[in-house]
Amino acid sequence: MKLLLLPSIQLVISIAHAFQYEELAQYVNNHEEEYMEALRDWVAVESDSSDISKRPDLHRMMELAAEMLRTMGGTVNLVDIGAQELPNGETLAMPKVVTAQFGSDPQKQTVCVYGHLDIQPAKMEDGWATDPYNLTELNGNLYGRGASDNKAPVLAWIHAIKAYRALNMELPVNVKFVLEGMEEVGSNGLDGIILAQHDTFFADVDFIIISDCIWLSRRPALTYGTRGNCYFFAEVEGPKKDLHSGVYGGTIIEPMTDLIGILDTLISPSGKILVPGIREAVAPLSDEEWKKYQDIEFDIDGFKEMIGVSQLMYNNKVDLLAHRWRYPTLSIHGIEGAFSASGSKTVIPAKVTAKFSMRQVPNMDPAMVKKQVTDYLHSVFAKRKSPNKLKVTMLIGAKPWLADTQDPLYEAGKRAIKRVFDVEPDLIREGGTIPVARTFQDVTGKSIIMLPIGDFDAGMHSQNEKISRYNYIEGTKLFIVYLNEVAQIKKQV
Ligand SMILES: *[C@@H]1O[C@H](CO)[C@@H](O)[C@H](O)[C@H]1NC(C)=O
Ligand SMILES: [Zn+2]
Repeated sequence: MKLLLLPSIQLVISIAHAFQYEELAQYVNNHEEEYMEALRDWVAVESDSSDISKRPDLHRMMELAAEMLRTMGGTVNLVDIGAQELPNGETLAMPKVVTAQFGSDPQKQTVCVYGHLDIQPAKMEDGWATDPYNLTELNGNLYGRGASDNKAPVLAWIHAIKAYRALNMELPVNVKFVLEGMEEVGSNGLDGIILAQHDTFFADVDFIIISDCIWLSRRPALTYGTRGNCYFFAEVEGPKKDLHSGVYGGTIIEPMTDLIGILDTLISPSGKILVPGIREAVAPLSDEEWKKYQDIEFDIDGFKEMIGVSQLMYNNKVDLLAHRWRYPTLSIHGIEGAFSASGSKTVIPAKVTAKFSMRQVPNMDPAMVKKQVTDYLHSVFAKRKSPNKLKVTMLIGAKPWLADTQDPLYEAGKRAIKRVFDVEPDLIREGGTIPVARTFQDVTGKSIIMLPIGDFDAGMHSQNEKISRYNYIEGTKLFIVYLNEVAQIKKQV
């Protein structure tokens, strides 16, 4: 008797838990305007982590998010991560990290969504068409700083959970959040939290989800790799003060000439990194990878048009994608101490500092890159026989990250995209750096997925950043479905 009863009980349970997508999607459609208001409120907060005068706004941003999660019934904590040291020696409190938890059923998978609520700087005079802190909808796009990076994606996750709760549907998995406010300046203090809470908050986390990236085209995508970043300062110091070129020019060896000279030895005009040892360390491009890139949707002309150039470094898709994602590159960003104002000042700067960075890839290692770059610059500088002093420092050494696209997390992503968008996703990599992915991987040993909803032309870090209404709303549905798909993954015990 007893045995016979079991199957029917299971049947009842599975009916009770059946995934009601249509109802959830309808709920999302009915709440679009509420979602717009939430994004408008968040974009209005100038949570720029790089500008210390905006620190109160950044603190307020973290509190707003904590409050929202608390109102939804989550277990929320604002975790103090201490202070940062400023160049003048003073210290400044860093924004607290928000952790939250919804559900703790040990039978279920537990996902942890990572996001950030700080933004890049933005000013009207940088060339924005609209006020960057006043979310403005034009032709279906929602313009505002932080819209794509990363406020709307974080809100979409929140809306996804709210939808389940509002409809009295049980969450298919336990959901945790880790939201930080220092991402744009290097995620200071975050590694510390991950290490410190490894055996507490992160102990029951099965998977980590990051939605801090964008699609490559109009086709939905799953991201399986990011490049790392090694950021350098090269300082050349000469006379004890700035000099007049009419009075002193011709008598001294100028720091700026030295600096430009050594900078010019870093990379060739055709994009080849000239620092010895770098290219040798790069993992070779496999035939399989080459084939994958062939199948990806990528519009070269549209890409050119979007950035406003007539010629690119390569003119075929595979080379462009490979050099954007899986080969290192070196960019020179600026020279501190150089005369850069308008007008024609005839100064000889006494000390100039170049800022450049190398996006790096498997199997490069930041510690090795630091040595290679430093040794190389000193050797080319020595050949100049200059009396000036060169100092090379590496400020950031973030490692690249690469996931296995056969992982059940990615299979779940493919199914979720198929359900919401009715297409197969492109599997893409990201040329940028999300250091926390690698930290999560190294510290927790859990699988990580990057599940983007940002548009390919989101303008992250640029003028007129936006997310389309379509991506924001359909992205919310994607997250709803994704939670259900993750619940289908067999739990490891
Ligand atoms: C935002 O822009 C709209 C439309 O231009 C304007 O009506 C509104 O007053 C602005 N809000 C703020 C807070 O500046
Ligand atoms: Zn971001």
